[in-house]
Amino acid sequence: MRKYARMWLIITIGVALVACDNSDDNGITDDTNQPPSDGEQLSDEVPPQGEQAIDEWLATEAYLDWACELEPNTTREGVHGVNLVCSNNAVANNTEGDDPWPIGAAAVKELYDSDGLDIIGYAVSIKTEMDSAGGSNWYWYEKIDGNLIVDGLDERLCADCHEMASRDLMYVTVSAN
Ligand code: HEC
Repeated sequence: MRKYARMWLIITIGVALVACDNSDDNGITDDTNQPPSDGEQLSDEVPPQGEQAIDEWLATEAYLDWACELEPNTTREGVHGVNLVCSNNAVANNTEGDDPWPIGAAAVKELYDSDGLDIIGYAVSIKTEMDSAGGSNWYWYEKIDGNLIVDGLDERLCADCHEMASRDLMYVTVSAN
């Protein structure tokens, strides 16, 4: 639901901009006011690494523009408790098949309290090299209730379990379609 609502918002803004553009020119096309193409989107495709940078980035909620589950999932009873997963384009456009994920494949997981109402933390995984090397070449980040759990490459706490995922260290993937 949220995804579609956002899509409509973007489309609506797009239409408004086009309408604006048409009204104030005399048929002369002026490209100088155009934003740089996709610059913003590209930087939001892969989260930054390091506690402070990633905390700031998570606070922007840029990942909500990725392919996200519609609601916190209360039926998964694993280590992560109630959570909602978002997959970036590198994952969401590649959910068919079982090839290793491309470099930059990333997931953000919102961690919720047991009622699924409040976000209590985040977990993030980012693939940094084509060779996953058993998770050593993934960046892992997790913070719960303000407590930093991991922040770095080769965090065995995360990688040892994620290595058991059927496809290249990622368990839950959300398709773009
Ligand atoms: C004991 C196994 C286990 C451990 C340890 C573990 N995870 Fe997970 N993780 C899972 C499972 C299973 C899922 C999918 C189901 C779910 O979300 O609960 C998952 C999902 C995720 C996702 C969403 C993308 C995906 O792969 O499905 C992220 C991001 C994530 N974990 C990060 C972490 C981080 C960071 C750590 C280390 C602090 C960690 N995990 C530790 C089992 C584990």
